[in-house]
Amino acid sequence: MEFSIKSGNPEKQRSACIVVGVFEPRRLSPVAEQLDKISEGYISSLLRRGDLEGKTGQMLLLHQVPGVLSERVLLVGCGKERELDERQYKQIITKTIETLNESGSMEAVCFLTELHVKGRDIYWKVRQAVEATQASRYRFNKFKTRKKEPRRPLRKIVFNVPTRRELSVGEKAVQHGVAVAYGTKICRDVANMPPNYCNPSYLGEQAKELAEKHDKISVSLIDEQQMADEGMNSYLAVVRGAKNEGLMSIIDYRGANDPNAKPIVLLGKGMTFDAGGISLKPGEAMDEMKYDMCGAAAVLGVMNTVAELNLPLNVIGVLVGAENMPDGDAYRPGDILTTMSGQTVEVLNTDAEGRLVLCDALTYVERYNPDSVIDVATLTGACVIALGHHTSGLLSNHNPLAHELQNASEQADDKAWRLPLYDEYKEQLDSSFADMANIGGRPGGTITAAAFLSRFAKKYNWAHLDIAGTAWKSGKDKGATGRPVPLLSQFLINRANNESNDS
Ligand code: BES
Ligand code: MN
Ligand code: ZN
Repeated sequence: MEFSIKSGNPEKQRSACIVVGVFEPRRLSPVAEQLDKISEGYISSLLRRGDLEGKTGQMLLLHQVPGVLSERVLLVGCGKERELDERQYKQIITKTIETLNESGSMEAVCFLTELHVKGRDIYWKVRQAVEATQASRYRFNKFKTRKKEPRRPLRKIVFNVPTRRELSVGEKAVQHGVAVAYGTKICRDVANMPPNYCNPSYLGEQAKELAEKHDKISVSLIDEQQMADEGMNSYLAVVRGAKNEGLMSIIDYRGANDPNAKPIVLLGKGMTFDAGGISLKPGEAMDEMKYDMCGAAAVLGVMNTVAELNLPLNVIGVLVGAENMPDGDAYRPGDILTTMSGQTVEVLNTDAEGRLVLCDALTYVERYNPDSVIDVATLTGACVIALGHHTSGLLSNHNPLAHELQNASEQADDKAWRLPLYDEYKEQLDSSFADMANIGGRPGGTITAAAFLSRFAKKYNWAHLDIAGTAWKSGKDKGATGRPVPLLSQFLINRANNESNDS
């Protein structure tokens, strides 16, 4: 898909389709008004006749409108003018792209970016339009032998900005939007792969592919033998029951002017299948546990975005690849593990495996002397109960880092909400026999899981994103969402902007 920015009059556009907004009830947007004038009231006469009320998402496609140079005019219902918010804006863009794909217009000039969205500037509107466009075109077809594609798909879209002064910020928004959307697509593609293809070594191959594409990325793989040498016994306990070997893929991006500048480390839980182990999960919807690697998929996507935008930062992405299976050799409830940090853990439930691989990965990355470490994990079912499917959980041992992530989340409209990490919760992890247990009971399950991780993240600023509810959708729209790629990309874009302001 080709995106560009223009600042022009609607009546001067010669395009396959020109897209303008209509508000409820039957009120033309300023741009639609201009088209109405040159068509000598043709559009307003249709509205008076009752063809379009202007409700959010309503579409009316017109052909050969008198006086208009473009072949088609798509009128898009935008709801009540003063109520247009982020969510409606994205819905409107998505619906528009779907309609254009079916209309046979292979290119379009879109004026919806000029609408007023409460509290959002032109950069935001263009960037979200690009991301929503790419998201609406996404299909995971790899395993369909008959692929359904639109006959004449949209190929080129121009977003209009109100004045020429906004052209450069619009272009920046397109560049960022394209890079974030591509990172999101990479995340979704890897996450949607079935677990008989996507295992820890598949994640390693994906990491290697990034290194081949981008000069500033190098990749190293830590296999089970190296983990044993490092004393990562907790990680190794989890993978022992699986035929597919555990593998940690380290993606090193050096983009900062100072190659020794402290890196930001992103850790992604990459449980390519979580059967629960000996604490076997119930059968219902167990297939969805192929998505237990969405943290790793997100890190992979973000690393691509960072490299594509050539951000002046050092970022290390770690895919913590593993599979959790029941087996005669699997680890069991009751086992006591000595983690890489030296702290001991009593396993009370083998299904709380994410924290057991992540804790050793958290210790492993101490060697990079990180500026901060952010882990991303489909860690707890409790997070789905606490926040549902719209908001990721955010927990941190460092308030400024938590605020940065919260801000990035709001800017990118990739929702996250902070949960507390008070010391009181840590007591729930007390064990009779080891330094801690791997579960803390039902109350505050997301918090006790994060409290567990925090014991391995004392040496640096650390944040944790629990994406159990947001990483994929179930039911008829089953599939990975690509979250939180937009949030993390925004966080890094902001860091890069601060970097260039400082120097
Ligand atoms: N990967 C799961 C968490 C999960 C479950 C994410 C359902 C999304 C949907 C994790 O490994 C797990 O099984 N967690 C347990 C922890 C419990 C045993 C303390 C859970 O949430 O039930
Ligand atoms: Mn589990
Ligand atoms: Zn899991």
